[in-house]
Amino acid sequence: MMSDSATDADVMRLGQPVVADPAWVEAAPPGVEREDIARVIISAERIATRVRALGEIITRAYAPLVVDSRLALVITLRGAAVFAADLARAINLPVELDFISAASYGDSAMTSGSVRLLKDLETNIEGRHVLIIEDILDSGLTLEKLVETLEVRNPASLRVCALLDKGKPFPLRTYPQALAFTGFLIPDEFVVGYGLDYAQRYRNLPYVGILKPDVYMRAESE
Ligand code: PRP
Repeated sequence: MMSDSATDADVMRLGQPVVADPAWVEAAPPGVEREDIARVIISAERIATRVRALGEIITRAYAPLVVDSRLALVITLRGAAVFAADLARAINLPVELDFISAASYGDSAMTSGSVRLLKDLETNIEGRHVLIIEDILDSGLTLEKLVETLEVRNPASLRVCALLDKGKPFPLRTYPQALAFTGFLIPDEFVVGYGLDYAQRYRNLPYVGILKPDVYMRAESE
């Protein structure tokens, strides 16, 4: 638990990602599609613990800011839906939920390099405190597109909460206040589960696991 006297510096420190330790790696537990998962890197239990901590940090950070309003949670479809459903319930503040969709991958395992806005918000975010909820930061292109799209609408603040971060360089990292809340720093592997997909599969796995390369190599050679 953070004390009541938690400072901005405490919030920034606690929002830094937990490094996914190679010692955590384990075999996929019994369940659907386990034969396609090379190994689990973050178990359902570790996700739940970190999501509760993120909810607490976000609550502390925004409590003084949303006294007469509601925190606007901008959930990026589709990958962040599972994380956002748990995170929203771990935030002890009035919130609103809205959804935005910007796709970069299509059904491929590789980023296409271009990001398209598929669905916009229904909420007017001018003057609002806005927290974008992302499942994963990989190349950072999706996030750059979202921030570029939203910041011109003059929100009171615009920050990001991402469950997973591969730690790759991209320009937004020079604004650490924007990337204030991150769950786990993970290796540069193709991960699925807890909302993340490959060709729309695996989103309902309760853990984050590394997909066996032969699954997508087989599919892409067909
Ligand atoms: C995935 C993921 C992030 C983005 C991260 O979305 O959900 O939004 O890619 O990659 P980047 O940092 O390289 O841009 P995707 O386009 O696959 O759509 P989805 O959320 O519907 O799976």
